[in-house]
Amino acid sequence: MTVATATCIAPFARVSGCDVQVPLVQGGTCSYANFDYAASAPALASVTDRISELLPFYASVHRGAGYASRISTTSYEDSRESVSRFVGADEDQVVVFTRNTTDSINLLAGAVPGDVVVLDIEHHANLLPWKNTRVVEAADSVSETVWRIAVELERAPAALLAVTGASNVTGEVLPIAELADLAHACGARIFVDGAQLVPHRRVDLAELGVDYLAFSGHKLYAPFGAGVLVGRRDWLDEAEPYLAGGGAVREVSLDHTEWACAPAVTRPGPERAGGRGDRCRVRHPRVARRRGRGTSRGTVVRATRRRPA
Ligand SMILES: Cc1ncc(COP(=O)(O)O)c(C=O)c1O
Repeated sequence: MTVATATCIAPFARVSGCDVQVPLVQGGTCSYANFDYAASAPALASVTDRISELLPFYASVHRGAGYASRISTTSYEDSRESVSRFVGADEDQVVVFTRNTTDSINLLAGAVPGDVVVLDIEHHANLLPWKNTRVVEAADSVSETVWRIAVELERAPAALLAVTGASNVTGEVLPIAELADLAHACGARIFVDGAQLVPHRRVDLAELGVDYLAFSGHKLYAPFGAGVLVGRRDWLDEAEPYLAGGGAVREVSLDHTEWACAPAVTRPGPERAGGRGDRCRVRHPRVARRRGRGTSRGTVVRATRRRPA
């Protein structure tokens, strides 16, 4: 007897603009077919609905005690928690909101304390921001490419291996867990450019052993240009602020600055202010030197860390 099984395919999630009509050169209109999702995906209808619900309560995040401000702050911090769960971040990994993947990589690039090993096939966003790069030529096969990376990591100490999760040119997906093991065995950390990977595959940082991940909201069905850097907080805490300014400090006078910890130290604007409970005091170099404990970038005198909110 043959048993027929019906394959049940879930309906695609609705996106904003799915019913848009566009004008034709020869006149008339037709439904718009957008094949450019890898560059920028339309917003999910559920996302635009949620944004519309929240907009009446839009107010300064972390900088106001009014009702709307509290709603905005709570939503903002809750979204950090959601992103953390979405990518399986562990307790030591902080979620920083940025403008996009490029912004996230530039932010991390300013915090890496050493050489960065990259492949020559990377998107420019994962090539240009890094300082002290060592470029490995990709081979015709993935196994040969992995072997070449291993040789380069073993040849000389590197701080970071920066690889794409999925190529924007070929769609090729590298064996991330294997590369993470390789990097760690050589004393390096691993960064994954998830711009094309995160919209298509489940990513679990803890399972893969990935230290840093960047991705873009606009490729992941979110509007308005938000990006994410998730990663271990120590380098971010120790680096110079990415954009020095109001939201990046805890306390400031003419000769004394206490920088905040990540994520606050990474963004100067009010809407980027830091997570609850982040406490990190860095004495201004001049002050620290006067007290005989200075380094060129100041001295971290106290840091208490809680799970990123
Ligand atoms: C693999 C990859 N990395 C990084 C980027 C840069 O992303 P964004 O422009 O959102 O910063 C892109 C954009 O297409 C990409 O495909």
